[in-house]
Amino acid sequence: MKTVSLINMKGGVGKTTTAVNLADFLVNRESKQVLLIDVDPQFNATQCVLSGNDYIDYIKNGGYTIVDIFDSTPRISASVVVGSKQTPPTSFSDITPVKSCRGFDYIPGDLQLFKLEMAAGSGRENRLRNYLSTLSNRYDYVIIDSPPTPSVWMMSALISSDYYLIPVKPDPISMTGMDLLQGIINERADNYGFTCKCCGIILTMVDLRSNLYKEAETFFNNNARWKNLLYSKYLLKRTQVARGQLNNRFIRDLEDSALKSDFSSIVKEFIRRTT
Ligand SMILES: Nc1ncnc2c1ncn2[C@@H]1O[C@H](COP(=O)(O)OP(=O)(O)OP(=O)(O)O)[C@@H](O)[C@H]1O
Ligand SMILES: [Mg+2]
Repeated sequence: MKTVSLINMKGGVGKTTTAVNLADFLVNRESKQVLLIDVDPQFNATQCVLSGNDYIDYIKNGGYTIVDIFDSTPRISASVVVGSKQTPPTSFSDITPVKSCRGFDYIPGDLQLFKLEMAAGSGRENRLRNYLSTLSNRYDYVIIDSPPTPSVWMMSALISSDYYLIPVKPDPISMTGMDLLQGIINERADNYGFTCKCCGIILTMVDLRSNLYKEAETFFNNNARWKNLLYSKYLLKRTQVARGQLNNRFIRDLEDSALKSDFSSIVKEFIRRTT
């Protein structure tokens, strides 16, 4: 079981888009068993899989979310009949990943992550890794979509992962953020003692009519740290990708053959880089 986190501290660079489509291609084109985990309080990856109404029904019916993995405190509920009642925290063995209609399993995200404060020394940042260790290698890949902030959720993702994958938009500001990102990952790796490795950089939202893509390619290929990490294919900028997400449509569902074929190459390179 290989665990890979999609990481970038810059927002809106295509982390979620890459994560959900990677899960989809790995299952449907590469016959892999995949678990997608949404640790972003914005829960965009979950929204790509489930419609708003289905998500509301899922929560109303008491479905487990990522909060159940992170929250180790007993639940207190108040009732006029029995007064306050304490129920034990959810056990990891109760949290069964949900089956998506795309063929991969997932742990839904949850806005309530915003409310879960990180208590220093509580060990909450280790809980996702501990949960994954209970799945006894049931999956070929666990793909984690993380938020764009150096939060406990992003740290949990890195602590749990063998690799991190960096989606980057080819623009000058995003490029200058790369060394800062690596600095933060290195510093946290020392503090928390995790050893996950970079399995590459994918350029996203590439517009071939602009010079920015070529400039980005030159930047990465000439940089001692990032050399050899840039994927040979990129994710083209296409309005349909953004529109499709509102209707739970993935890259594989779109008509655009260049987009699909490039993404398929990205997935094959991903498999090679994580072997
Ligand atoms: N290839 C693409 N072409 C056009 N639009 C895209 C493409 N990839 C992603 N988008 C759109 O760009 C926006 C940001 O993408 P996405 O949500 O994947 O980024 P993110 O890095 O996960 O963002 P955040 O940091 O907020 O989690 C979304 O509206 C998405 O639909
Ligand atoms: Mg996202």
